[in-house]
Amino acid sequence: MLEVKNLHKKFGSVEILKGIHFHINKGEVVAVLGSSGSGKTTLLRCLSFLEKADHGEIIFDDFHKDITQIRPKEIRQLRMKMGFVFQNYNLFRNKTAFQNVMEGLRIAQKVPEPQAKEIAVNTLKKVGMLERSDYYPDQLSGGQQQRVAIARAIALSPKVILFDEPTSALDPELTGEVLDVMKMLAREGTTMVVVTHEMGFAQEVANRIIFMDGGRIAADQPSKEFFTSPQDENIKRFLRRTLADYDYTI
Ligand SMILES: Nc1ncnc2c1ncn2[C@@H]1O[C@H](COP(=O)(O)OP(=O)(O)OP(=O)(O)O)[C@@H](O)[C@H]1O
Ligand SMILES: [Mg+2]
Repeated sequence: MLEVKNLHKKFGSVEILKGIHFHINKGEVVAVLGSSGSGKTTLLRCLSFLEKADHGEIIFDDFHKDITQIRPKEIRQLRMKMGFVFQNYNLFRNKTAFQNVMEGLRIAQKVPEPQAKEIAVNTLKKVGMLERSDYYPDQLSGGQQQRVAIARAIALSPKVILFDEPTSALDPELTGEVLDVMKMLAREGTTMVVVTHEMGFAQEVANRIIFMDGGRIAADQPSKEFFTSPQDENIKRFLRRTLADYDYTI
């Protein structure tokens, strides 16, 4: 469904993405793991066109083009198919939870008001935020804000949702409520690409793991396999560091 070929990105003279290739199938939950600085955020930012890649191809359903040649109109069309949930919620501060969810439906998708309202109510209900519809972001906890951000993304019925460390800015006691919403989405068959340091989520929910190392994909394999038979020393080291109960003999 979504495929990237030979994606390269430099910042100045430093090459950050060194030829990335992957394919996301419908209904998959892919966790992107890797050490800090390995290029995970840069990859998602290139996919969402927040950064301009230097080289590569993007294939999304029947759309196939050189990523450097994409026109603004095509970017808008591709972005309509993707949902984004990043670390810092990025809600409009001057709008309520309800208005935040309505915004994309009314402005980007031009959904008629009564229908948009119904979708907004349903999605807020789904993430357990209906009773706080009229609260402004500042009146909500981080976990609640992130759930509103997820509601805003799913309201637009994207084909894939890209998450960049959706729980890393949260106090530990609030990460569970956000992960629970993501697990529910996974159960419903939502296609998700999740950059995360939540190893529990990666082990329990992801079908597939992409492991990034120094701007390259060092492993791309079913989740179970990734954890039980890591392919190289860097991955083993990463697992030892991030999994408290990891078997040191592996
Ligand atoms: N706008 C930028 N200008 C220059 N260098 C950048 C920029 N954004 C990222 N980098 C560099 O690119 C590299 C990869 O950064 P990136 O944010 O993609 O890593 P990451 O894998 O998401 O790390 P983390 O797990 O800490 O979020 C880093 O060395 C970073 O310093
Ligand atoms: Mg990052």
